[in-house]
Amino acid sequence: MSISDTTDLHASFEVHRSDSPRPDAERESLLATPKFGTVFTDHMARVSWTQGLGWHDRRVEKYGPLQLDPATAVLHYAQEIFEGMKAYRHDDGSVWTFRPWANAERLQRSARRLALPELSTEDFLASVTALVRTDVDWVPSGDETSLYLRPFMYASEAFLGVRPSMQAEYLVIASPVGSYFAGGVQPVSIWVSEDYARAAAGGTGAAKCGGNYAASLLPQQEAYARGCEQVCFLDAATGTLIEELGGMNVFVVGADGSVSTPRLTGSILEGVTRSSILELLREDGREVTERDIPLTELLDGVRDGSVAEVFACGTAAVVTPIGRLAGTDFDVTVADGSAGPVMQSIRTRLTDIQYGRAADPHGWMHRLV
Ligand code: COI
Repeated sequence: MSISDTTDLHASFEVHRSDSPRPDAERESLLATPKFGTVFTDHMARVSWTQGLGWHDRRVEKYGPLQLDPATAVLHYAQEIFEGMKAYRHDDGSVWTFRPWANAERLQRSARRLALPELSTEDFLASVTALVRTDVDWVPSGDETSLYLRPFMYASEAFLGVRPSMQAEYLVIASPVGSYFAGGVQPVSIWVSEDYARAAAGGTGAAKCGGNYAASLLPQQEAYARGCEQVCFLDAATGTLIEELGGMNVFVVGADGSVSTPRLTGSILEGVTRSSILELLREDGREVTERDIPLTELLDGVRDGSVAEVFACGTAAVVTPIGRLAGTDFDVTVADGSAGPVMQSIRTRLTDIQYGRAADPHGWMHRLV
């Protein structure tokens, strides 16, 4: 879909401007040092769904608290899904997003798994376009900054019976961001959780739903307690295969230049950054495999030097080096613990496309403003 397709589409969203937008000086000071997910723009996009009526009341309205009946289904049964994407300001002032169709389709897949209504790709693109156009002054222009977009949907019917909600709300909120990790693009250390699993076969692992992230918080706390920034989960069935981090996919680079990442088993989230990296590496002629990666193989490879790099990727953190892997009976440093060349070059290639510094031969970028 091209810009002209959403130029008209976003007009289906009625814009009700906030009566108290942040003054220019306050906004500028908030944009100067954006810290991930702490500051939000003046507006949010919103669409309501009622069974029988479908999606209705497409609007952009003042950002603010939601009023929920205490019996609202999402508060009890966690019927909720979300997406993560970014709006990037290019040097000429235009604002773009990256592969939004992939996010729209993943939200539809997540909706099917969580028995929520599917939002059309057109409505998804229109909601994001309408919000970013309304809050365009909130898109930062500093190095490696962006406007993080968080589309989400929740079951809004006030009903305690366990069945799919007959009402849902879809919203998009936006937050100016810099680096996801406080330390910037520095190698992170990973705690491999052997006591807890993130998702099992037949579960919701492939859906982007809040429940998966809730389940990752206790092991994430354990990771912090062990001096690590992130947790890595193993497959629930055997506890032997690398799956993914709390919110990112994982890649392993061999000393021979080959690259592998865990195959999509149904319990792993199909990251948009993950699939973009796979495509870029394959175009380079690299040997790239999606396969089962046993933890023992990874640790042996790190110890004997046949693993040269390990890195994580996701929309929020882009591409982040993993410098150390720790678990109950191991603690290993990957190569010399610093960012490796494959990770650095893939990060540069991806961000160059996203920030308009390089050509976009795949047609991944979509202009919003
Ligand atoms: C993202 O990378 O956008 C994510 O959704 C991961 C995390 C911030 C929840």
